[in-house]
Amino acid sequence: MAHIHDLAPRIAHYHAGVRNQNTQLKFPNTDVFNGFNAPSRLEGEITDLEVDGTIPPEINGTFYRIQPDHRYPPKFEDDLQFNGDGAVTAIRIQKGHADFKQRYVRTERYEAETAERRALFGRYRNLYTDDELVKGVIRTASNTNVVFWRGMLLAMKEDGPPFALDPVTLETVGRYDFEGQVQSPTFTAHPKFDPVTGEMVCFGYEAGGNGNDASNDIVVYTINADGVKTEECWYKSPFCGMIHDCGISENYLVMPLTPLKCSLDRLKRGGNHWAWDPNEDQWYGVVPRRGGKPDDIKWFRSANGASPLFLPVPPN
Ligand SMILES: [Fe+2]
Repeated sequence: MAHIHDLAPRIAHYHAGVRNQNTQLKFPNTDVFNGFNAPSRLEGEITDLEVDGTIPPEINGTFYRIQPDHRYPPKFEDDLQFNGDGAVTAIRIQKGHADFKQRYVRTERYEAETAERRALFGRYRNLYTDDELVKGVIRTASNTNVVFWRGMLLAMKEDGPPFALDPVTLETVGRYDFEGQVQSPTFTAHPKFDPVTGEMVCFGYEAGGNGNDASNDIVVYTINADGVKTEECWYKSPFCGMIHDCGISENYLVMPLTPLKCSLDRLKRGGNHWAWDPNEDQWYGVVPRRGGKPDDIKWFRSANGASPLFLPVPPN
């Protein structure tokens, strides 16, 4: 009779979905870590990329992209792509040539896991699944968007503060708190820039507590072109749901509150941060851009579904 090991493949490196300790560096055999999604784990530079066709010599600029790219196999086999470490690519185009550079964002998460040579942070936005070694360490992987701000490149993810990078070398300067003016634990990856005034209009949701404990707090900031915070107002949302993106007009900010809900009880049980509520409306919070007060937020509702401000989102 065949041994059971001959009948079913062994689950290597994971037991009950949790990574074994002291195993070799192997990623889960799931779609998240295979094919197009396979981690590249690459840092480096290529001077003069091979090019199909001809680059017009008048093009002089840099194309930046950011992506999640797991540096270490996750603690949990069913991990999400969005839980990967932020890696920034720059393609510098000048005089008909294209040069490539790619570096990880040196977040606190990155530094802590590199020091231990393994994943220490658990499920997506669930600090109750983290290793004891990283209690209190900023969890964000800074993997969602990059924007220019006053000579810096800010790598951002909505579950934590931005991290600032040198736009030429891609070296990480460190956590960026707008010279001490922004203290919320969370900050959107999709701030908006007023094309007339140069202001950054930005917000954080789930911005109370430690930023990952299901608070209903929303904070909205305006930072002027000189880097000075001119507006800050805290609002309450009807439930803790994802506000991934926003839109601005001359006088208002619109924040789509999607019925992806967080539950503190679920987090404490080691579960997922988000769960879709099919019985909840899509909400939109509208606040004035200037002189906002906590009672000024107006909520509009539409049928259950993902907001067009969330899906599709602007290219990251
Ligand atoms: Fe996005």
